[in-house]
Amino acid sequence: SRRASEKLILEGRVKVNGVVVKELGTKVKGDDAIEVNGTLIERERNKVYYLFYKPRGVISAVKDDKGRRVVTDYFEGEKNRIYPIGRLDYDTSGILLLTNDDGELANLLMHPRYKVDKTYVAKVEGLVQSDDLKRLRKGVKMKDGHYSARAKAKVISSDRAKNHSIVSLTIHEGRNHQVKNMFEAIGHPVMKLKRETYDFLTLKGLTSGQYRELSNEEVKTLYENARKNSKLK
Ligand code: URA
Repeated sequence: SRRASEKLILEGRVKVNGVVVKELGTKVKGDDAIEVNGTLIERERNKVYYLFYKPRGVISAVKDDKGRRVVTDYFEGEKNRIYPIGRLDYDTSGILLLTNDDGELANLLMHPRYKVDKTYVAKVEGLVQSDDLKRLRKGVKMKDGHYSARAKAKVISSDRAKNHSIVSLTIHEGRNHQVKNMFEAIGHPVMKLKRETYDFLTLKGLTSGQYRELSNEEVKTLYENARKNSKLK
């Protein structure tokens, strides 16, 4: 507690960079060494959360044994040991969150019960019809035998000449290759896939390969929404 800390300081048991400091309210910097009773105390580890615009052709991991590019290659100079929260396929681009938070939020967001909505934009083979959308919305049987949950789906555009469609699909599950498997199940294989939103977060302001830190407010909202969704879905 603050009171107990003040007592330690007044008793001369606290050193900053090797010098006893008895004055209350002395300011320290992040890299100052603080000792209590001769023992160096560890600073609380800061949690960091990043929103990354993952390019296609990058592995959602911190290392790859085949030497391919991994997402953390984009975070040069980052001292924290960050890792991606969930995954995007090698050939999928878009929003990916990374953190060094080895517990709560990452677990919360990855746990099936807590899944928050994610919107994908897919370029798919063929012309997607309203019956196809109905099937996607209701849930389809995927090749892994699982049924997808209810989803939101709409056609953004279709190109008759080139015989492909651009479709937006919002899901809260995250099985392996889920979006690709859903489109395959309705006979419209995915040609290109991008994740555009993750809950309320978007790629606004970023270009492929760039990232930004999440604000405390955004982290707080992610927590709240994840908890809220676990009750609803
Ligand atoms: N669904 C997929 O099929 N691939 C992804 O990368 C993400 C969701």
